Amino acid sequence: MATWNLTEMNHHVLICNGSSCMRKGGEEVTLAIRSEIKKRNLEVQVHTSRTRCNGRCKDACVVVVYPEGTWYHEVDEPLAERIVSEHLEQGKPVEEAVTYTYNGRGMELHNDRVIGVDLDKEKKKVKQ
Ligand code: FES
Repeated sequence: MATWNLTEMNHHVLICNGSSCMRKGGEEVTLAIRSEIKKRNLEVQVHTSRTRCNGRCKDACVVVVYPEGTWYHEVDEPLAERIVSEHLEQGKPVEEAVTYTYNGRGMELHNDRVIGVDLDKEKKKVKQ
């Protein structure tokens, strides 16, 4: 158990450890991200958290970077290292692997990814 001082943190990385992502290398991705953060001395600026399912299982393994609200899909170990070096260290998201970004009003879909289940339609079905 730990209680980190986060006052100098500038990025929070959520690494999906739900069952679909774990089947697609979620543990290796988690370790690769944490190792690369350590190697680049970014441990004070970058905080990581393992999460349960993020609701985008077709995109497994999913990694989300805040505060930008950048969602990555199909992250493997090489991509995990690029996310750390290019996005977290240099401030340039790995565009070809982005699923969503937050545009100030909502989430914007990138790279022709599967849109997924429409929550409004699902709620209407339940009410009928
Ligand atoms: S298990 Fe990772 S998005 Fe569902």
